[in-house]
Amino acid sequence: MAITKEQVINALKQVIFFAKQNNIVDLNMVDDLVVNENEISLTVIFPKLADHSVNIVSNSIEKTLKGEFGEQMAIKVTPVAEKDREMGPLSGVKNIIAVIAGKGGVGKSTVAANLAVALAKAGNTVGILDADIMGPSVPILFGVEGEQPGIIERQGKSYMVPLEKYGVRILSLGFFVKSDQALMWRGAMINKAFNQLMTDAEWGNLDFLVIDMPPGTGDIQLTLGQSYKVRGTVLVTTPQRVATADVRRAALMCRQDKLTIPLLGIVENMAYFIPPDAPEKKYYIFGKGQTELLAAELKIPVLGSIPMVGAIAESGDSGNPIALDDNSPIARTFAQLVINLQTELKNS
Ligand SMILES: Nc1ncnc2c1ncn2[C@@H]1O[C@H](COP(=O)(O)OP(=O)(O)O)[C@@H](O)[C@H]1O
Ligand SMILES: [Mg+2]
Repeated sequence: MAITKEQVINALKQVIFFAKQNNIVDLNMVDDLVVNENEISLTVIFPKLADHSVNIVSNSIEKTLKGEFGEQMAIKVTPVAEKDREMGPLSGVKNIIAVIAGKGGVGKSTVAANLAVALAKAGNTVGILDADIMGPSVPILFGVEGEQPGIIERQGKSYMVPLEKYGVRILSLGFFVKSDQALMWRGAMINKAFNQLMTDAEWGNLDFLVIDMPPGTGDIQLTLGQSYKVRGTVLVTTPQRVATADVRRAALMCRQDKLTIPLLGIVENMAYFIPPDAPEKKYYIFGKGQTELLAAELKIPVLGSIPMVGAIAESGDSGNPIALDDNSPIARTFAQLVINLQTELKNS
């Protein structure tokens, strides 16, 4: 006799989600239940995916259903995170890449903006989200200061439409908050604004969403790691020991149990100085070797070394990321950075 959904649901009531001391049916964790002659498939919604209970519950479902309906029955359990469910607008985003640094001024935003442009040039659909509330610089780097994202309505709800330039969809807290106001923002408010940029936005289908994170180890890092599926983090540092020590802390935070965001690699910015009148020369004015030491300690690669050159600062100030310039050797460095990143994504 054919098995009914009702029978399956009754069986699933034996599966307990211990964290909430109730069964998965009454907790409304079961969705998309499909019952066929030989296969039962279902989605199970968990508070978060980086949790032992996901395996425990999935195994228990399989055991219970096979016990009830026979060993020959194929059981397909798809665990999803609550946030991914609710947050429809991000469902088209394949890879969220967080760009983080230990402290401000190391060129995190410059690297994030050029990485986004280089990813787009390599044929990807790309967005950039500027989450650095205290120092949003993505609008300047893309030359869209003072512009406002559009708004569209969907099913009675408003969504922001990112601006688009150089093939990159752009949203920044800087579009909404004046810098002197930002200083008065509290953690909870910043988090809320961040969540809105992530989920109340029409990001559409993206291969990559690059996030320019605030420097250091703050609330937004926690929110990002706990509430979103981050594909990986790119660390930005300069060669000095003080900078690598700070970025190390930010990196270790990503690896904490509660977050477990993969670290993809390090970008060393201002790695050496190239004098404009002697472009064949390299001066390691901030020293050499610290970034490699950190990379070895964290067991991640150095994805790229960006020199310190006036053209990078000038192109940033004028809103034309240098990665756009096909004649620039720096653009080639960023193109290689994209290749290295994609290799790392394949292997991680
Ligand atoms: N490789 C580089 N060469 C020259 N100037 C750079 C380089 N990287 C960043 N800068 C400049 O340094 C300043 C800080 O960079 P920014 O990207 O805003 O840092 P962060 O986001 O880490 O605070 C900016 O004026 C930027 O133009
Ligand atoms: Mg910045």
